Amino acid sequence: MPDPVIQVRGLRYTYDDGTVALNGIDFDLYPGETVALLGANGSGKTTFVLHLNGLLHGSDSVIVCGLPVIAANLPEVRRKVGVVFQDSDEQLFMPTVLEDVAFGPLNLGLSPEEAIARARKSLEQAGIASALHKSPYHLSAGEKRRVAIAGVLAMVPDILVLDEPTTYLDPPGQRELLALLRQLPQAKIVVTHDMQFARAIASRAVFFEKGKIAAAGSVDELVSRFHWRSE
Ligand SMILES: Nc1ncnc2c1ncn2[C@@H]1O[C@H](COP(=O)(O)OP(=O)(O)O)[C@@H](O)[C@H]1O
Ligand SMILES: [Mg+2]
Repeated sequence: MPDPVIQVRGLRYTYDDGTVALNGIDFDLYPGETVALLGANGSGKTTFVLHLNGLLHGSDSVIVCGLPVIAANLPEVRRKVGVVFQDSDEQLFMPTVLEDVAFGPLNLGLSPEEAIARARKSLEQAGIASALHKSPYHLSAGEKRRVAIAGVLAMVPDILVLDEPTTYLDPPGQRELLALLRQLPQAKIVVTHDMQFARAIASRAVFFEKGKIAAAGSVDELVSRFHWRSE
């Protein structure tokens, strides 16, 4: 077995108001695999995701590609783990799509020419290069999601984390997203309530319940065990 690209041990996190959101999470992600994170609203999935690139910091128990997720390692960890948030609007803030996607590479210290070249390539890869001069605000939900994915790909991450990526997408948009993600070689963690999508993309799944991983197995095993269906 290769070394995991993400290793989480006994992760706990309590919000300032006393809400215990994570109560001892053990999790490994291996190179090239896709794991679905299932579970009810409020079970801690997003809180977990926020720990993977150090946006939240609970106990010292998250390791990314051998690096503990601590302040000193955050720039490197954030290059390795690309997170696409549930609400793409929160990730899009520049006047044009191209500038938005070039922002991350520029911040890494690439020259404007290199950053633009990377942004163009990522937009191609995400299938949204046609919108490059548009304002992100004028895009459809599916297009916004693609731009957010392009923004993450422009950082050339080793790991992709997507929090409820099919939300707001119509069925064709969901199928296109699935096809796009399947082409990307990175190890992936995908939070989803869409079992068809989970089945199509994930080799295995974990089920979050009250801040813990209550079970792990195939998507189908967890769906039948927890009577977890979309409709
Ligand atoms: N900023 C916050 N402050 C306090 N409690 C929060 C905050 N964000 C989330 N929570 C709580 O933490 C728990 C886990 O939430 P979350 O990680 O968003 O779950 P999920 O993504 O599975 O829906 C819930 O009880 C939620 O209400
Ligand atoms: Mg969530």
